[in-house]
Amino acid sequence: MTDSQNELSPEHQVEAARKAFEQEFERFARFTAGDLDAAVAEERALAELRTRHLGKKSALAATKKLIGRVAADQRAAFGQLVQATEAAIVQSLDQAEQNLKDYIQNERTARESIDVTLPGRRPRLGHRHPITLLRERLEDVFVALGYAIEDGREIETDFYNFSALNIPENHPARGWQDTFYTTDGFALRSQTSTVQIHAMQRRGVPVRMIAPGRVFRRDTPDPTHNPMFFQVEGLCVDRGITMAHLKGTVAEFLRRVFGADTVTRFRPSYFPFTEPSAEFDFSCFKCKGSGCRICKNSGWIELGGSGMVHPNVLRAVGVDPQQYSGFAFGFGIDRMTALMYELDDIRLLFENDVRFLEKFE
Ligand code: DAH
Repeated sequence: MTDSQNELSPEHQVEAARKAFEQEFERFARFTAGDLDAAVAEERALAELRTRHLGKKSALAATKKLIGRVAADQRAAFGQLVQATEAAIVQSLDQAEQNLKDYIQNERTARESIDVTLPGRRPRLGHRHPITLLRERLEDVFVALGYAIEDGREIETDFYNFSALNIPENHPARGWQDTFYTTDGFALRSQTSTVQIHAMQRRGVPVRMIAPGRVFRRDTPDPTHNPMFFQVEGLCVDRGITMAHLKGTVAEFLRRVFGADTVTRFRPSYFPFTEPSAEFDFSCFKCKGSGCRICKNSGWIELGGSGMVHPNVLRAVGVDPQQYSGFAFGFGIDRMTALMYELDDIRLLFENDVRFLEKFE
Protein backbone atom coordinates (compact mmCIF):
# COMPACT_ATOMS: atom_id res chain seq x y z
CA MET A 1 0.00 0.00 0.00
CA THR A 2 1.59 3.14 -1.10
CA ASP A 3 -0.86 5.95 -0.71
CA SER A 4 -0.22 8.08 2.28
CA GLN A 5 -3.58 7.61 3.96
CA ASN A 6 -3.08 3.92 4.16
CA GLU A 7 0.20 4.39 5.84
CA LEU A 8 -1.67 5.71 8.86
CA SER A 9 -3.10 3.27 11.34
CA PRO A 10 -6.86 2.86 11.29
CA GLU A 11 -7.11 4.81 14.55
CA HIS A 12 -5.13 7.64 13.06
CA GLN A 13 -7.33 7.64 10.02
CA VAL A 14 -10.38 8.08 12.23
CA GLU A 15 -8.58 10.85 14.03
CA ALA A 16 -7.69 12.49 10.72
CA ALA A 17 -11.28 12.34 9.54
CA ARG A 18 -12.41 13.95 12.80
CA LYS A 19 -9.82 16.69 12.52
CA ALA A 20 -10.68 17.40 8.91
CA PHE A 21 -14.31 17.73 9.91
CA GLU A 22 -13.58 19.98 12.84
CA GLN A 23 -11.46 22.26 10.76
CA GLU A 24 -14.23 22.80 8.27
CA PHE A 25 -16.92 22.88 10.86
CA GLU A 26 -15.23 25.57 12.90
CA ARG A 27 -16.78 28.47 11.06
CA PHE A 28 -20.27 26.98 11.48
CA ALA A 29 -19.73 26.60 15.19
CA ARG A 30 -18.78 30.23 15.40
CA PHE A 31 -21.43 31.44 13.00
CA THR A 32 -23.82 34.03 14.40
CA ALA A 33 -26.33 34.78 11.72
CA GLY A 34 -26.83 38.46 11.06
CA ASP A 35 -29.16 38.31 8.13
CA LEU A 36 -31.67 35.96 6.64
CA ASP A 37 -30.02 35.44 3.25
CA ALA A 38 -26.68 34.61 4.86
CA ALA A 39 -28.35 32.10 7.15
CA VAL A 40 -30.11 30.39 4.25
CA ALA A 41 -26.79 30.11 2.35
CA GLU A 42 -25.13 28.77 5.46
CA GLU A 43 -27.80 26.11 5.87
CA ARG A 44 -27.07 24.90 2.35
CA ALA A 45 -23.30 24.85 3.01
CA LEU A 46 -23.89 22.89 6.18
CA ALA A 47 -25.85 20.22 4.29
CA GLU A 48 -22.92 19.87 1.88
CA LEU A 49 -20.54 19.58 4.81
CA ARG A 50 -22.65 16.76 6.19
CA THR A 51 -22.47 14.82 2.93
CA ARG A 52 -18.75 15.38 2.64
CA HIS A 53 -17.95 14.08 6.13
CA LEU A 54 -20.64 11.50 6.74
CA GLY A 55 -21.61 10.37 3.24
CA LYS A 56 -20.70 7.09 1.59
CA LYS A 57 -17.56 8.54 0.08
CA SER A 58 -16.39 10.30 3.22
CA ALA A 59 -13.10 9.57 4.99
CA LEU A 60 -15.04 8.39 7.98
CA ALA A 61 -17.07 5.92 5.91
CA ALA A 62 -13.75 4.60 4.56
CA THR A 63 -12.50 3.84 8.09
CA LYS A 64 -15.43 1.48 8.61
CA LYS A 65 -13.91 -0.74 5.96
CA LEU A 66 -10.63 -0.99 7.85
CA ILE A 67 -12.09 -3.14 10.57
CA GLY A 68 -10.42 -6.20 9.07
CA ARG A 69 -6.99 -4.66 9.48
CA VAL A 70 -7.42 -4.14 13.16
CA ALA A 71 -6.14 -6.81 15.52
CA ALA A 72 -8.95 -8.98 16.74
CA ASP A 73 -8.65 -7.95 20.36
CA GLN A 74 -8.87 -4.28 19.41
CA ARG A 75 -11.73 -4.51 16.97
CA ALA A 76 -14.46 -3.75 19.43
CA ALA A 77 -12.59 -0.70 20.68
CA PHE A 78 -11.96 0.44 17.12
CA GLY A 79 -15.62 0.01 16.24
CA GLN A 80 -16.57 2.10 19.23
CA LEU A 81 -14.07 4.79 18.24
CA VAL A 82 -15.58 5.01 14.76
CA GLN A 83 -19.08 5.17 16.14
CA ALA A 84 -18.24 7.73 18.79
CA THR A 85 -16.51 9.90 16.22
CA GLU A 86 -19.45 9.65 13.89
CA ALA A 87 -21.88 10.41 16.69
CA ALA A 88 -19.86 13.48 17.68
CA ILE A 89 -19.87 14.77 14.11
CA VAL A 90 -23.59 14.12 13.75
CA GLN A 91 -24.26 15.95 16.98
CA SER A 92 -22.21 18.96 15.96
CA LEU A 93 -23.94 19.12 12.60
CA ASP A 94 -27.40 18.67 14.09
CA GLN A 95 -26.77 21.35 16.65
CA ALA A 96 -25.52 23.85 14.07
CA GLU A 97 -28.38 23.00 11.74
CA GLN A 98 -30.93 23.49 14.47
CA ASN A 99 -29.46 26.89 15.35
CA LEU A 100 -29.67 28.01 11.74
CA LYS A 101 -33.23 26.71 11.34
CA ASP A 102 -34.35 28.50 14.48
CA TYR A 103 -32.77 31.71 13.33
CA ILE A 104 -34.33 31.50 9.86
CA GLN A 105 -37.73 30.67 11.29
CA ASN A 106 -37.65 33.58 13.73
CA GLU A 107 -36.45 35.98 11.11
CA ARG A 108 -39.19 34.99 8.67
CA THR A 109 -41.89 35.26 11.29
CA ALA A 110 -40.62 38.67 12.33
CA ARG A 111 -40.77 39.91 8.75
CA GLU A 112 -44.29 38.67 8.14
CA SER A 113 -45.77 39.71 11.42
CA ILE A 114 -48.37 42.49 11.58
CA ASP A 115 -48.68 44.78 14.52
CA VAL A 116 -52.41 44.62 15.15
CA THR A 117 -52.18 47.44 17.67
CA LEU A 118 -51.15 49.99 15.01
CA PRO A 119 -53.97 52.28 13.84
CA GLY A 120 -55.42 51.23 10.47
CA ARG A 121 -55.18 53.25 7.30
CA ARG A 122 -58.45 55.02 6.77
CA PRO A 123 -59.69 55.02 3.18
CA ARG A 124 -60.29 58.57 2.01
CA LEU A 125 -63.97 59.26 2.01
CA GLY A 126 -65.33 61.00 -1.05
CA HIS A 127 -68.24 63.39 -1.04
CA ARG A 128 -70.80 64.79 -3.37
CA HIS A 129 -70.02 67.17 -6.21
CA PRO A 130 -71.16 70.79 -5.67
CA ILE A 131 -73.65 70.46 -8.55
CA THR A 132 -75.07 67.34 -6.94
CA LEU A 133 -75.34 69.14 -3.60
CA LEU A 134 -77.37 71.94 -5.19
CA ARG A 135 -79.47 69.53 -7.27
CA GLU A 136 -80.45 67.63 -4.14
CA ARG A 137 -81.38 70.87 -2.41
CA LEU A 138 -83.58 71.89 -5.34
CA GLU A 139 -85.18 68.46 -5.41
CA ASP A 140 -86.02 68.74 -1.72
CA VAL A 141 -87.70 72.11 -2.29
CA PHE A 142 -89.84 70.82 -5.16
CA VAL A 143 -90.72 67.55 -3.47
CA ALA A 144 -92.00 69.65 -0.56
CA LEU A 145 -94.15 71.57 -3.08
CA GLY A 146 -95.68 68.31 -4.29
CA TYR A 147 -93.54 67.70 -7.38
CA ALA A 148 -92.28 64.30 -8.54
CA ILE A 149 -88.68 63.88 -9.70
CA GLU A 150 -88.40 62.56 -13.27
CA ASP A 151 -85.38 60.92 -14.78
CA GLY A 152 -84.90 61.66 -18.45
CA ARG A 153 -82.70 60.26 -21.17
CA GLU A 154 -79.58 61.91 -22.48
CA ILE A 155 -79.93 60.55 -26.01
CA GLU A 156 -83.07 61.64 -27.80
CA THR A 157 -84.84 61.52 -31.10
CA ASP A 158 -85.77 64.61 -33.06
CA PHE A 159 -89.37 64.19 -31.87
CA TYR A 160 -88.59 64.64 -28.16
CA ASN A 161 -85.91 67.26 -28.50
CA PHE A 162 -87.67 69.41 -31.10
CA SER A 163 -90.89 68.42 -32.90
CA ALA A 164 -93.02 67.60 -29.85
CA LEU A 165 -91.79 70.82 -28.26
CA ASN A 166 -93.25 72.83 -31.12
CA ILE A 167 -89.89 73.40 -32.76
CA PRO A 168 -90.52 72.36 -36.38
CA GLU A 169 -87.77 71.64 -38.84
CA ASN A 170 -86.08 74.79 -40.18
CA HIS A 171 -87.21 76.65 -37.09
CA PRO A 172 -84.52 79.11 -36.00
CA ALA A 173 -84.68 77.75 -32.45
CA ARG A 174 -82.93 74.62 -33.70
CA GLY A 175 -79.94 76.72 -34.56
CA TRP A 176 -79.10 78.29 -31.24
CA GLN A 177 -79.03 75.02 -29.48
CA ASP A 178 -77.17 73.07 -32.08
CA THR A 179 -76.34 69.82 -30.38
CA PHE A 180 -74.39 66.64 -31.10
CA TYR A 181 -76.06 64.40 -33.65
CA THR A 182 -75.49 60.81 -34.65
CA THR A 183 -75.82 59.75 -38.28
CA ASP A 184 -78.87 57.58 -37.57
CA GLY A 185 -81.18 60.27 -36.26
CA PHE A 186 -80.28 60.52 -32.60
CA ALA A 187 -79.00 63.55 -30.74
CA LEU A 188 -77.68 64.30 -27.30
CA ARG A 189 -80.53 66.32 -25.81
CA SER A 190 -79.94 70.05 -25.84
CA GLN A 191 -82.51 70.77 -23.12
CA THR A 192 -84.36 68.98 -20.35
CA SER A 193 -87.68 70.16 -21.85
CA THR A 194 -87.68 66.72 -23.54
CA VAL A 195 -88.75 65.23 -20.23
CA GLN A 196 -92.03 67.20 -20.35
CA ILE A 197 -93.02 64.99 -23.26
CA HIS A 198 -91.89 61.72 -21.66
CA ALA A 199 -93.59 62.60 -18.39
CA MET A 200 -96.95 63.42 -19.98
CA GLN A 201 -96.79 60.30 -22.16
CA ARG A 202 -96.02 58.07 -19.22
CA ARG A 203 -97.99 59.70 -16.42
CA GLY A 204 -100.75 61.42 -18.35
CA VAL A 205 -102.25 64.55 -16.84
CA PRO A 206 -102.59 66.11 -14.34
CA VAL A 207 -98.85 66.09 -13.73
CA ARG A 208 -96.39 67.97 -11.57
CA MET A 209 -92.75 67.09 -11.99
CA ILE A 210 -89.22 68.40 -12.16
CA ALA A 211 -86.47 66.76 -14.19
CA PRO A 212 -82.87 67.57 -13.38
CA GLY A 213 -80.24 66.30 -15.79
CA ARG A 214 -77.41 66.77 -18.21
CA VAL A 215 -77.80 68.57 -21.51
CA PHE A 216 -75.39 69.09 -24.38
CA ARG A 217 -74.68 71.89 -26.80
CA ARG A 218 -72.06 72.56 -29.37
CA ASP A 219 -70.48 75.38 -27.42
CA THR A 220 -66.81 76.11 -27.14
CA PRO A 221 -65.85 75.99 -23.45
CA ASP A 222 -65.19 79.38 -21.85
CA PRO A 223 -65.69 80.75 -18.32
CA THR A 224 -69.49 80.76 -18.74
CA HIS A 225 -70.04 77.94 -21.27
CA ASN A 226 -69.45 74.22 -21.31
CA PRO A 227 -70.65 71.76 -23.98
CA MET A 228 -72.21 69.67 -21.20
CA PHE A 229 -74.15 71.23 -18.36
CA PHE A 230 -77.08 70.61 -16.04
CA GLN A 231 -80.62 71.91 -16.19
CA VAL A 232 -83.75 71.48 -14.16
CA GLU A 233 -87.03 71.32 -15.99
CA GLY A 234 -90.35 71.92 -14.28
CA LEU A 235 -93.84 71.09 -15.52
CA CYS A 236 -97.29 71.48 -14.02
CA VAL A 237 -100.37 70.59 -16.06
CA ASP A 238 -103.90 70.46 -14.68
CA ARG A 239 -107.31 72.01 -15.22
CA GLY A 240 -107.32 75.74 -14.72
CA ILE A 241 -103.59 76.36 -14.37
CA THR A 242 -102.69 80.01 -15.03
CA MET A 243 -99.65 82.24 -15.18
CA ALA A 244 -100.37 83.16 -11.56
CA HIS A 245 -99.52 79.58 -10.57
CA LEU A 246 -96.28 79.82 -12.50
CA LYS A 247 -95.25 83.04 -10.81
CA GLY A 248 -96.27 81.82 -7.36
CA THR A 249 -94.38 78.54 -7.78
CA VAL A 250 -91.15 80.08 -9.09
CA ALA A 251 -91.22 82.83 -6.45
CA GLU A 252 -91.77 80.31 -3.65
CA PHE A 253 -89.03 78.04 -4.90
CA LEU A 254 -86.55 80.94 -5.02
CA ARG A 255 -87.54 82.10 -1.54
CA ARG A 256 -86.94 78.62 -0.19
CA VAL A 257 -83.50 78.41 -1.80
CA PHE A 258 -82.22 81.98 -1.40
CA GLY A 259 -84.14 83.28 1.61
CA ALA A 260 -87.60 84.65 2.48
CA ASP A 261 -86.73 88.18 1.34
CA THR A 262 -85.96 87.09 -2.25
CA VAL A 263 -87.92 89.03 -4.89
CA THR A 264 -88.72 87.49 -8.28
CA ARG A 265 -89.48 89.28 -11.53
CA PHE A 266 -90.64 88.09 -14.95
CA ARG A 267 -89.65 89.57 -18.29
CA PRO A 268 -91.55 88.80 -21.51
CA SER A 269 -89.62 86.46 -23.76
CA TYR A 270 -90.04 83.82 -26.40
CA PHE A 271 -89.78 80.04 -26.36
CA PRO A 272 -91.41 77.83 -29.01
CA PHE A 273 -92.91 75.49 -26.39
CA THR A 274 -94.57 78.18 -24.25
CA GLU A 275 -97.07 80.92 -24.97
CA PRO A 276 -96.83 83.41 -23.41
CA SER A 277 -93.20 83.03 -22.39
CA ALA A 278 -91.17 84.81 -19.74
CA GLU A 279 -87.69 84.79 -18.36
CA PHE A 280 -87.34 85.08 -14.62
CA ASP A 281 -84.80 86.87 -12.45
CA PHE A 282 -84.43 87.07 -8.69
CA SER A 283 -83.00 89.73 -6.40
CA CYS A 284 -79.29 89.14 -5.74
CA PHE A 285 -78.82 86.91 -2.70
CA LYS A 286 -75.50 88.58 -1.91
CA CYS A 287 -76.25 92.31 -2.02
CA LYS A 288 -80.03 91.99 -1.66
CA GLY A 289 -80.53 94.13 -4.75
CA SER A 290 -78.19 97.04 -4.12
CA GLY A 291 -75.66 95.85 -6.71
CA CYS A 292 -72.45 93.86 -6.39
CA ARG A 293 -69.94 91.85 -8.35
CA ILE A 294 -72.16 88.75 -8.48
CA CYS A 295 -75.19 90.51 -10.02
CA LYS A 296 -72.92 92.72 -12.09
CA ASN A 297 -74.29 95.74 -10.20
CA SER A 298 -77.81 95.21 -11.52
CA GLY A 299 -79.27 93.86 -8.27
CA TRP A 300 -80.85 91.01 -10.26
CA ILE A 301 -79.71 87.55 -11.25
CA GLU A 302 -81.13 86.03 -14.42
CA LEU A 303 -81.99 82.41 -13.88
CA GLY A 304 -84.21 80.77 -16.48
CA GLY A 305 -87.05 80.57 -18.93
CA SER A 306 -90.70 79.76 -18.38
CA GLY A 307 -94.18 80.17 -19.75
CA MET A 308 -97.57 78.60 -20.29
CA VAL A 309 -97.25 75.26 -22.08
CA HIS A 310 -98.01 75.81 -25.78
CA PRO A 311 -101.23 74.09 -26.94
CA ASN A 312 -99.22 72.30 -29.63
CA VAL A 313 -97.07 70.65 -26.96
CA LEU A 314 -100.17 69.36 -25.19
CA ARG A 315 -101.58 68.13 -28.51
CA ALA A 316 -98.32 66.31 -29.30
CA VAL A 317 -98.94 64.03 -26.33
CA GLY A 318 -102.70 63.75 -26.84
CA VAL A 319 -103.80 66.19 -24.14
CA ASP A 320 -106.78 68.44 -24.96
CA PRO A 321 -105.69 72.09 -24.55
CA GLN A 322 -109.34 73.06 -24.14
CA GLN A 323 -109.49 71.14 -20.88
CA TYR A 324 -105.95 71.34 -19.59
CA SER A 325 -103.38 74.05 -19.27
CA GLY A 326 -100.02 74.18 -17.63
CA PHE A 327 -96.82 76.02 -17.01
CA ALA A 328 -93.22 75.01 -17.52
CA PHE A 329 -89.86 76.42 -16.57
CA GLY A 330 -86.22 75.55 -16.98
CA PHE A 331 -82.90 76.79 -15.67
CA GLY A 332 -79.27 75.78 -15.40
CA ILE A 333 -77.84 74.33 -12.20
CA ASP A 334 -74.19 74.87 -13.09
CA ARG A 335 -74.60 78.60 -13.42
CA MET A 336 -76.51 78.69 -10.16
CA THR A 337 -73.75 76.66 -8.47
CA ALA A 338 -71.11 78.99 -9.87
CA LEU A 339 -73.03 82.02 -8.57
CA MET A 340 -73.61 80.59 -5.12
CA TYR A 341 -69.98 79.63 -4.65
CA GLU A 342 -68.72 82.75 -6.44
CA LEU A 343 -66.76 80.80 -9.04
CA ASP A 344 -65.31 82.87 -11.84
CA ASP A 345 -65.09 79.96 -14.23
CA ILE A 346 -67.80 77.34 -14.70
CA ARG A 347 -65.26 74.90 -16.12
CA LEU A 348 -63.83 74.41 -12.62
CA LEU A 349 -66.88 72.28 -11.96
CA PHE A 350 -65.88 69.74 -14.60
CA GLU A 351 -62.15 69.52 -14.23
CA ASN A 352 -62.47 67.01 -11.40
CA ASP A 353 -59.59 68.52 -9.51
CA VAL A 354 -59.89 67.03 -6.04
CA ARG A 355 -58.23 70.05 -4.45
CA PHE A 356 -61.10 72.16 -5.76
CA LEU A 357 -63.93 69.70 -5.14
CA GLU A 358 -62.80 69.03 -1.56
CA LYS A 359 -63.84 72.53 -0.56
CA PHE A 360 -67.53 71.73 -0.90
CA GLU A 361 -69.32 69.80 1.80
N1 DAH B 1 -85.41 74.71 -22.54
C1 DAH B 1 -85.03 76.10 -22.34
C2 DAH B 1 -83.54 76.26 -22.56
O1 DAH B 1 -82.87 75.28 -22.67
C3 DAH B 1 -85.38 76.55 -20.96
C4 DAH B 1 -86.84 76.65 -20.79
C5 DAH B 1 -87.50 77.79 -21.15
C6 DAH B 1 -87.56 75.57 -20.30
C7 DAH B 1 -88.87 77.90 -20.98
C8 DAH B 1 -88.94 75.67 -20.16
C9 DAH B 1 -89.57 76.85 -20.50
O2 DAH B 1 -89.68 74.66 -19.69
O3 DAH B 1 -90.92 76.92 -20.35
O4 DAH B 1 -83.07 77.35 -22.62
